[in-house]
Amino acid sequence: MIKTVATEPYLDQKPGTSGLRKKVRVFQQPHYAENFVQSVFDALGDEKTGQTLVIGGDGRFLNREVIQVAIRMAAANGFARVVVGQGGILSTPAASNVIRQRGALGGLVLSASHNPGGPDEDFGIKYNISNGGPAPEKVTDAIHANTKSISRWLTVEADDINLDTLGEVTVGGMTVEVIDSVADYAALMESLFDFAAIKRAVEGGFTMSFDAMSAVTGPYATEILEKRLGFAPGTVKNGTPLPDFGGHHPDPNLVHAKELYDRMMAPDAPDFGAASDGDGDRNLIIGRGRFITPSDSLAMLAANAHLAPAYAGGLKGIARSMPTSAAADRVAEKLGIPAYETPTGWKFFGNLLDAGMATICGEESAGTGSDHVREKDGLWAVLLWLNILAASGKSVDGIARDHWATYGRNYYARHDYEGVESERADALMADLRAKLLTLPGETFAGLTVETADDFAYTDPTDQSVSRNQGIRVLFQGGSRVVFRLSGTGTSGATLRVYLERYSADQLDRETPEMLADIIAAADEIAGITQHTGRTEPDVVT
Ligand code: G1P
Ligand code: ZN
Repeated sequence: MIKTVATEPYLDQKPGTSGLRKKVRVFQQPHYAENFVQSVFDALGDEKTGQTLVIGGDGRFLNREVIQVAIRMAAANGFARVVVGQGGILSTPAASNVIRQRGALGGLVLSASHNPGGPDEDFGIKYNISNGGPAPEKVTDAIHANTKSISRWLTVEADDINLDTLGEVTVGGMTVEVIDSVADYAALMESLFDFAAIKRAVEGGFTMSFDAMSAVTGPYATEILEKRLGFAPGTVKNGTPLPDFGGHHPDPNLVHAKELYDRMMAPDAPDFGAASDGDGDRNLIIGRGRFITPSDSLAMLAANAHLAPAYAGGLKGIARSMPTSAAADRVAEKLGIPAYETPTGWKFFGNLLDAGMATICGEESAGTGSDHVREKDGLWAVLLWLNILAASGKSVDGIARDHWATYGRNYYARHDYEGVESERADALMADLRAKLLTLPGETFAGLTVETADDFAYTDPTDQSVSRNQGIRVLFQGGSRVVFRLSGTGTSGATLRVYLERYSADQLDRETPEMLADIIAAADEIAGITQHTGRTEPDVVT
């Protein structure tokens, strides 16, 4: 019954990542997806026998095909049950929730997050463990080693299952259960937030616009926002997940969600605007006439979280990734709770959440979440904002202004230089590292460097150390620039430059104006133009 298929290793999975993200054409090569899935299953050893595996994805091109392959392979590898979202759909936070609620050993999440989809675009597979979060390094290292030595993969002879019909079927002796993609997640959200208060606000005329970007959150947002909370039909835009996201880039930032931004800046804008990415873990928050940076959103959500039932008892701690602005730290200080600064990537938050050390986490890249799952969660952030707005009766702009008046304002921007030749990007970082020790005391564009280092993190839960997590340059007076290379791109290198300036009293200035000297200093310090040949970033967020 179990079929053994001979294969050869491929060598190009990035070590240290919890998954594999490549062009669709690469994934379509014979044995390619199979090699990775088998490498994951082999890394789990005998532990998987008799266990449950969750499978779901963001609906992008190749989603259904890879799910069918993975189901047959799971049967051959000894799993007792696969739980799969209807139509192959599970948003990343919903998958995290299903893994936790079902007591599954783990899950395969099929997505390339906010990267475009379609035959010429990106696809990805990642493995999440039983806490619902991305696999830790111990597991990803084992997976990576397996991809280099794999010689066979296992499957069973069985037809494709009908992914669209709810219920149970058997594949090679294993049970496959097709579940409603939305129900469990919507119930979880309803348990965290004051839906009645939000509903009352909607009945009182509160309006919003949600752009699902033709990606996975469409069905979730339609069920929760329109059906349960009573927002008008049409509140959810681009609500049908499409294999190519309608040809758009499902990244909820000011470039790719420009239509939403323009709507929110118009005189007749709704009260609240939001968007989520390909797999539903990121969020964009815009009030009428007021964009909220993700770093500010984290701080404002943390400061007001007590207005939502799930967080009424207070927060245990707040965690942010290092490049995220320090706005959240000020909230933690005021609340008298710990603030954690972790390397980029959600997996570092997982340990803090599991240990009960932090309740709310966030990244400047529009990921925000809490201990309700072990992934960042786009709709969760939207609902917490809605809960706060409904409970406080304030506008988004009002929340922001009150927050800055209390804590001061962290002006913030990220500049991305995309598709840089890898050698040139590596040379820029190497040059920076080489001169780190000489930077303190030097002046660039009128700013004097106070400290400069290559961020290293010791995880307080297991003392593991992660080095080389980004170059931080702190200027006298509290401004900062951070340089790091993206770990998620699929072609060339992306240089990310994170710019931040704190002001206690200038609360109503324009961000570019406030950051101008830091931008100039960043170029002088790193030689961005000289190394990359670029005079302008490709994306400013
Ligand atoms: C990017 C973001 C990072 C996020 C990751 C996964 O990684 O910057 O915050 O955790 O995507 O969504 P990067 O490309 O910068 O390595
Ligand atoms: Zn994502």
